[in-house]
Amino acid sequence: MVKEFDVANLDFAPGGKLRIDWAEQDMPVLRSIRERFEREKPLKGLRVSACLHVTTETANLMATLQAGGADVVLAASNPLSTQDDVAASLVAHYEIPVYAVRGEDNQTYFNHLEAALNHRPHMTMDDGADLVSELHKKREDLIGDVMGGTEETTTGVIRLRAMAKEGALRFPVIAINDSQTKHFFDNRYGTGQSTIDGIIRATNILLAGRVFVVAGYGWCSRGIASRAHGLGARVIVTEIEPVKALEAVMDGFQVMPMIEAAKVGDIFVTATGDINVIDRRHLEVMKSGAVVCNSGHFNVEINLTALAEMSVGAPKLVGPHIEGYNLKDGRIIYVLGEGRLINLAAAAGHPASVMDMSFANQALGAEFMVRNYDKLQSQVYTIPEDIDREIARLKLASMGVQIDNLTAEQEHYLNQWQEGT
Ligand code: ADE
Repeated sequence: MVKEFDVANLDFAPGGKLRIDWAEQDMPVLRSIRERFEREKPLKGLRVSACLHVTTETANLMATLQAGGADVVLAASNPLSTQDDVAASLVAHYEIPVYAVRGEDNQTYFNHLEAALNHRPHMTMDDGADLVSELHKKREDLIGDVMGGTEETTTGVIRLRAMAKEGALRFPVIAINDSQTKHFFDNRYGTGQSTIDGIIRATNILLAGRVFVVAGYGWCSRGIASRAHGLGARVIVTEIEPVKALEAVMDGFQVMPMIEAAKVGDIFVTATGDINVIDRRHLEVMKSGAVVCNSGHFNVEINLTALAEMSVGAPKLVGPHIEGYNLKDGRIIYVLGEGRLINLAAAAGHPASVMDMSFANQALGAEFMVRNYDKLQSQVYTIPEDIDREIARLKLASMGVQIDNLTAEQEHYLNQWQEGT
């Protein structure tokens, strides 16, 4: 048993192990990588500090890295996303030091990052770039040992690209999010389904007939809008990018500025990655009873400070993930999951079947980094296309789906330019 860790309660471990095994059944691609890693040990001796949501799916990724020979530690990437039974099982059954307690305060969250960095990583594995950011801001002494990192999510990739642009990034990072087998599936179908799942688990609200406002029309928001529409909601999309807004219009959604949507919406979900997308002026015109929540990485998209200032007294806990803010003008506005990722705060995050591909990218990204770090610059890289396509091939095979191959004639046709009409 590992000596150093911080989890809620080791007694939760048996339940966690059952759920980790359940998720594993739906992660065939990661399983095949784990089997190969067991034989080949491509990560032998590699110290990995991971900062990811501590879920059943992440546990399977940790086991895969460990099978490859890595020495792994894990810290939570969000104070509200940790599944305490999984954290306990990783310590008790896998001997992986975990620093994650559901509901931890901000100070504990950062102490946990520090604990993960004390592992002196050769590689970082981030979801939101907090680990890389802390490493560069506070633990520069450790940077010399780091060959590179991987980053799971859109928000983290944006932060890292900003670091690289400024010349601040000091090692290469692979943007897992940019793989096609990540964002087309995890962001769209994973966030789509799990966000709706979080809203329904928190509220048991009927979506049919409700005005459902989605802020943003990136891959996550596209998934949320399409799933809400599928349940009969009347969906409004807000955007700042004309091309995305046009796409939302052509996908059949109403598009309007948030200040207009705010007046008519029943349920609001933000998934933009930006700050104060629902701001004081929007909260001021919302209907009484409106429900607001966030599915973006950080809890900055809803201006909760303004909402608290507009309220009388502290918000009232209506249910485990619902707080009612009583406003001075008599209205009440409900916030779900403290404005943090609703799919992980009130539900179990993305289903294993999509995390299978995201985490196959993580595992193969780590292997790619080990093999290639000396050829890479301190920049943000996308995983090579052949790895991305191989993950899709493996996923299709696991689903029993076959596809066509190009004939020699077709291959030739695609590689020439003389033949036209
Ligand atoms: N991000 C969203 N869903 C997740 C999950 N199930 N596990 C890890 N990270 C996630």
